[in-house]
Amino acid sequence: MSVAARFGRVTNQQRRCVCPGSYDPVTMGHVDVITRAAALYDEVVVVVLHNNTKRGTFSVEERMKLLDSALTAVPNVRVAAFARRLLVDVCREAGAQAIVKGLRSDTDFAYELPMALMNRHLSGIETIFLPGDPRFGHVSSSLIKEVAAFGGDITGLVPAQVQAALLARLQNPEGS
Ligand code: PNS
Repeated sequence: MSVAARFGRVTNQQRRCVCPGSYDPVTMGHVDVITRAAALYDEVVVVVLHNNTKRGTFSVEERMKLLDSALTAVPNVRVAAFARRLLVDVCREAGAQAIVKGLRSDTDFAYELPMALMNRHLSGIETIFLPGDPRFGHVSSSLIKEVAAFGGDITGLVPAQVQAALLARLQNPEGS
């Protein structure tokens, strides 16, 4: 698919950012950061970056569908997916001036800082950090999956569609 078809027309006036991640699956922490980014930019491109040799809990198509359904209330968001690509190349194609990420803790900052500096080194694209909402400071995709796998309650920590999809996947691990 061409760049134009994937991202639509890019004009100089558009302030666009990218919110990248694995989103396997999207959590309420992600939804919070994406929603806040959408209030700051004309358009947010949520980019699912995946390794096509590594199978996730959800397929890329499933992750994108779950993101779409979690973000229906946010009109200026679109969801795209890329495999084995540099994030900065995706940003250039998307016409994005910035990468927006949420920070839950100093551990997140230590993980994100080298990537932010490398991305700026490679392309000049800045990374904007939003402080994560403390309500979701303990929420990550991997922890959600672990808690759900052992019967813990994840209500309110992931969108309802994600909760249902996760419970279905746990009951039928081979399902798609
Ligand atoms: O949700 P995650 O797993 O924390 O997301 C990490 C992700 C996918 C955003 C990061 O690994 C990434 O940007 N990968 C794309 C490849 C790339 O550009 N690597 C160099 C980063 S400096």
